[in-house]
Amino acid sequence: MPETDKLKMDIVEALKSIKDPDLGRDIVSLGFVKDVKFCSGVAAVTIELTTPACPVKDQMREEARQAILALDGVDEANVEMTARVRSSSSESTGLLPGVKNVIPVASGKGGVGKSTVSANLAVALAQSGAQVGLMDADVYGPSIPTLMGLSEKPVSGPNRQMIPVTQYGLKIISMGFFLPEEKAVIWRGPMLDKMITQFLGGVQWGELDYLIIDLPPGTGDIQLSLCQKVPLTGAVIVSTPQDVALNVAQKAIAMFNQLNTPVLGIVENMSHYRCSHCGHRDDIFGTGGARKVSESRGLPFLGEIPLSTNIRVHSDQGKPVVLAEPESEQAKAFLQVAENTAAQISIRAMAGELEQDIKVSF
Ligand SMILES: Nc1ncnc2c1ncn2[C@@H]1O[C@H](COP(=O)(O)OP(=O)(O)O)[C@@H](O)[C@H]1O
Ligand SMILES: [Mg+2]
Repeated sequence: MPETDKLKMDIVEALKSIKDPDLGRDIVSLGFVKDVKFCSGVAAVTIELTTPACPVKDQMREEARQAILALDGVDEANVEMTARVRSSSSESTGLLPGVKNVIPVASGKGGVGKSTVSANLAVALAQSGAQVGLMDADVYGPSIPTLMGLSEKPVSGPNRQMIPVTQYGLKIISMGFFLPEEKAVIWRGPMLDKMITQFLGGVQWGELDYLIIDLPPGTGDIQLSLCQKVPLTGAVIVSTPQDVALNVAQKAIAMFNQLNTPVLGIVENMSHYRCSHCGHRDDIFGTGGARKVSESRGLPFLGEIPLSTNIRVHSDQGKPVVLAEPESEQAKAFLQVAENTAAQISIRAMAGELEQDIKVSF
């Protein structure tokens, strides 16, 4: 075997020592090592992750570099990290052909921060480099246009599909674009069903890695329509730590279970308050409740967001805190939720892919 080929094999062998912490397997057997080159002492490899929002991306690059540099004959190692988001649903749906993952953000009751979480989650994923859409399906209280600082309306494109509004790198659609501000929506089930169909198939979403859907509170017609119309990757449940809120969050979880929609995990919002003057932490509503519910239900805990004026002020000004103050404690908390959510999506998608592989090889 030529020396170069042997070295390429050694490189692959060395990379087997690197594990993806979420998937619990080495990056070679997961098929992440894409392109191995070696020429005159210089090695170059490409590692393709399942999400650009991977928190250990830099650490993995460094580990890979060190593993390659430890080989005899290698003087230099260049490791490129890329990502291809996988779809967890094997059927590509008629309504959303280019969308890989659909993630509803839900809660049992209103005012717990679904829209705030949806907006920050969507922006954080987009900032990591993913293609992201944000659909505001809360017809009763559409708040995404305000949260994202939008006043323009979507226009009609060819084939009479709506072209979503673009803001902060996201594609956005909301009932708020079409309603006069003071007007309330009083619709029956069939109208709501029509709206959901329109917002899915009637919008030119194009290619998306993640479509985040901000749901109205509760377990009503919109939730039902959505679960029936498209395969959902899994829901993100938002809850405050209060017991009352947690009981209703459990209802939302039960609804998704009944509709055979997976739950990706729970986010605890308004988790604790930190005084901006002295840094003292106050657990106003108690804390850890959502984590306990996650554990008892066997669901992942996606993170906790502090109660903070910062978050509300930036939301009111139309620029989510992850963009307005990316270095703040609040932004970092949202970032962690985004990374954990992306990791859960990857885990589900890879479990599906590996299962397929096993089926094929038998
Ligand atoms: N972590 C937080 N800290 C401070 N204010 C928050 C936080 N999360 C949400 N809010 C505020 O609480 C209100 C309700 O949040 P919202 O996201 O609209 O909830 P929902 O969509 O569940 O009804 C908004 O005024 C929002 O700015
Ligand atoms: Mg809302």
